[in-house]
This record gives sequence, C-alpha cells and structure tokens, in this order.
Amino acid sequence: LRSNTPVRYDEHRKCWDVFRYEDVQYVLKNPKLFSSARDRANTSMLTTDPPKHKQLRDLVNQAFTPRAIEALAPRIQEIADELITPHLQQGQMNLVDDLATPLPVIVIAELLGVPAEDRQKFKDWSDALVKGARDDSDEAFQELMEEKKRNQQELAVYFRAIMEERRQQPQDDLISLLLAAEIEGQKLSEEELVGFCILLLAAGNETTTNLITNAVRILAEQPELQQRLREHPEHIASAVEETLRYYPPIVAIGRLARETVELSGQTIQEGEQVISWVGSANRDGQVFEHAEQFIEDRKPNRHMGFGFGIHFCLGAPLARLEARVVLNTILQQMQGIKLVSETKLQPIQSAFVFGVKEYPI
Ligand code: HEM
Repeated sequence: LRSNTPVRYDEHRKCWDVFRYEDVQYVLKNPKLFSSARDRANTSMLTTDPPKHKQLRDLVNQAFTPRAIEALAPRIQEIADELITPHLQQGQMNLVDDLATPLPVIVIAELLGVPAEDRQKFKDWSDALVKGARDDSDEAFQELMEEKKRNQQELAVYFRAIMEERRQQPQDDLISLLLAAEIEGQKLSEEELVGFCILLLAAGNETTTNLITNAVRILAEQPELQQRLREHPEHIASAVEETLRYYPPIVAIGRLARETVELSGQTIQEGEQVISWVGSANRDGQVFEHAEQFIEDRKPNRHMGFGFGIHFCLGAPLARLEARVVLNTILQQMQGIKLVSETKLQPIQSAFVFGVKEYPI
C-alpha cells in the first residue's frame, strides 16, 4: 500500500487512507487543512481546532508535564507490585485483566482525586466507556450505545459532585487543580471540566492497557529480549518507545479535509474524511531502518504512536511511565515469560486499535 497506493480513496468506507510516514505527518501537522472537529457536539480538546484547542490544552498542560508525572513513580510502583505479587506464587496471570486493565484506571482515579471508596464504581464506569471496543459489538449494538450514554451521564453527575466538594475544599488532586486553572482570565466551564475528566478516561485507559499488553507480548514473542533487557535496564524506556512504533495501541487517526488539497498526487476534496495510518507510517522503510524488526534501543525513533503536532498525546508522559514501571517489575519478578500454550489470540474489534482481548502468561 505504501509503494503502490500511498494515498487512496476507499469507495466502501467513503474515506481516504494515507499510508506513508511523510504524508501522515503532513496531515497531522496541518490542522488548518485537516480538522479534528469531526463531532460538533463534542467540545473536548481532542475534537477541537485552534484557537479553541490551545485554550483547552494550555489549561491542563501543567498537570501533565514529564516532571509532574515523574513524581507519581513511587505510587505507580506500589500499585504494580500490589497487582503482580499475588500471581507470582501461582506462576500464571491474566495480563489484561489482572494488571494491564486495572493499573491505568487506579492511577487516573487517584490522580483525579476519586475517593478510595468509590474506586470500584469508578472502574465499572471506566470499563463501560470503552466497552464497545472490547466486546463483540454486533449483538445488541443499540442497547450498548444506550448503556454507554447512560454511563456517561452517570459519570458526569459523579464528577460534578466531586467538583462541588473540591470547590469548597480544594485538595492536592487534578480536579482541584483544574478548578483553579486559569489562563488570561479564562476558566474552563463546568461542562468543559466534566468533558475533560471523561476524555482522560476514554483516551487514557484502554490505550495504556494495550501498550502494557503489547509490550509484554513482544517479550513473550522474543524470549531473548527478556534477558537482554534484564542486563540493560537502561533500554527499557527505549523498548517502550519501540513498542509504540512496532505494536502501536492506536494505529489510525481520523481527520476531515477543510479545503481541497493535493496529497501524493491525489486530490482530496473539502469535507472528505481522511484516515492517517500511523501503524503503517511507523513501519515505513524510508524513515526506519529494518522497519520490520523490533530493536529495543532504536535511535532515533520518531514513531507516531502518540500522534504528531498540536494533538500529540497529552498523557504520553504518564503512559510511558506506567509502561516502564510494569516492564521493569515484570522482568525483575518473572523468569521465562511466555504466553500460556494454545491460547488463541483474539484481536480487539476496532480498526483503530491494536491489541488483544486476553493475554494469559
Ligand atoms: C491524544 C495515543 C495514553 C490523553 C492522543 C493521540 C494519540 C494518543 C495517537 C492523538 C489523537 C489525534 O491526533 O487525534 C495514546 C496512546 C496512549 C495514550 C497510544 C497509551 C499508550 C493517554 C493517557 C492519557 C491520554 C494515559 C491521559 C491520562 C490524551 C488526550 C489527548 C490524547 C487528552 C488529546 C490531546 C489533544 O487533542 O491535544 N493520544 N494515548 N492519552 N491523549 Fe493519548
């Protein structure tokens, strides 16, 4: 596809597909030509364009700087230990359910300031947010959508209640910080704040689950890598980057053409959908040497697993840290990591997501 039809229109799906690194990057770095505002009802930063996008993002950036996130490392380590230790004796764990799913949910709950007693309720809501992607969605699809909508409303009510409490009594948590955040006299409205909290769950949890699972999957698929990383723990961070290139949790990013534009000899008309295949760009031999090989200390590694340009993943420092802590802990605590034999891998049913439903090790 990259060599023969680098930019092509799919009649069936009614959208353009973009496969080469250079073209994907061009789409993502030109929000004037390629808009993120696909869903007008939704005003989260993910689906807004400049200048509104910058306003929303600047307000929350400070909470997500690498330095602010690095301070969470000891707590993330504790959570990882709590989740991993019970399975060590037995010698087996269901990576997705026992570790990769709960870890990011607990971390984001604590970061936001969700009280410990609400954790289970919070996890159920959070799981339900991404349910369509994990279950076989053709059965009772309508019902599922209704349930998702109800779920979002419940979450919104819940966040409003916490905000009310934090307004009276600020705590050392993200919700209090967001309530106080102000840029040039502008504050986030309550609706924007609630929308942002829900965005964090929707954008951050399943993606991190898949990053952790995909990273451990590579360890299981390439057993020699386990020992190499144990001997060179300084390569764990770059192994996480290489996972984001090689098995990216998000393989495609959608935009809407705002003007008629030429791309690799094709004419994209204003108003048409454009899908940028990050999964393909990340394997482009023009940019990556030995692109089909997993090289744990690859340098440079300009993968687009977190996107590119103004919408570059806000949660990247957090996702990186969580994945690093998990990989390091698993390599320290487990020997001979492998997939439980005869497990049939089931892909997650979404064209945009790369991951498996279960991964018992
Ligand atoms: C944006 C991937 C984890 C919050 C994005 C984008 C990608 C991405 C590709 C760009 C979307 C676009 O351009 O339309 C990932 C991956 C993750 C991950 C692969 C895990 C491995 C997280 C986490 C959080 C988060 C942990 C928050 C706690 C966001 C937000 C945006 C975003 C808020 C929108 C940023 C903007 O529009 O300016 N992510 N993400 N993500 N991500 Fe992540």
